[in-house]
Amino acid sequence: MITQKRSIEIYPDKESLSLAAAKKVIEVANSAIAINNCFAIALAGGSTPKRLYELLASEQFSTQTDWSKWHIFIGDERLVPATDPNSNFGMARDSLLSKVPIPEENIYAVNTAHGEMAAQEYENTLRKAVLDLGINGLDVVLLGLGSDGHTLSLFPGKAAVLEKNEWVVATEHGVLPPPVDRISITIPVVQAARLALFLVAGDDKAEVTQQILEQDPNIVRPASMIIPTDNLSVCWMIDQAASVKLTTQ
Ligand code: 6PG
Repeated sequence: MITQKRSIEIYPDKESLSLAAAKKVIEVANSAIAINNCFAIALAGGSTPKRLYELLASEQFSTQTDWSKWHIFIGDERLVPATDPNSNFGMARDSLLSKVPIPEENIYAVNTAHGEMAAQEYENTLRKAVLDLGINGLDVVLLGLGSDGHTLSLFPGKAAVLEKNEWVVATEHGVLPPPVDRISITIPVVQAARLALFLVAGDDKAEVTQQILEQDPNIVRPASMIIPTDNLSVCWMIDQAASVKLTTQ
């Protein structure tokens, strides 16, 4: 069994990190399209990936892939309308999805009007899409990192982090503003993917980045539970500010 390695890439700033991420996503997308005739990606929320999305929509990158083969999922969502500035889908739509020719039926948004039912409904959506596409899991899951070590909407100490069976769960807001309920894909969905791509920027992430990547065994964070396997590569793209506490650079 060949276990994929975790890779750590450090960039001078968020712009160069976003450029490298855009190149990587296009490369993985085109290779998935060549093999499976489709590319399935879960987008991350938060603020860090916005520049990546803008770059993917720019002429430099948008001409390099066949958007009709892309299938877009949301890794986690705040239960607010898509028009709300806090909507992860709204951010992805404004910066990327409205600007490239992805067929509407290939964009799988969370029905946030359904409140508690949203998680179950999105799980059904995700399971059906994976089945219909004939793939074993998502090609890429984009991930962010919170300063408390959360990723997706999987917050430290909450049951959602330990979920083993469900693909999508309802979660509370953790430390993140705004204090709205959320839904999140679970760690087994990430572990079944081909590439987990963390995008981490800013000095407020320096301490937790060091703890996770240099594996302080006493501190287990949600983000440290995503581990490379023979199927999954885990790549951490970090800007200089978030990397300053790493001892091996
Ligand atoms: C969200 C997220 C969350 C985010 C991290 C990092 O809904 O906010 O999905 O997990 O990715 O908190 O956020 P930043 O990129 O804004 O630092």
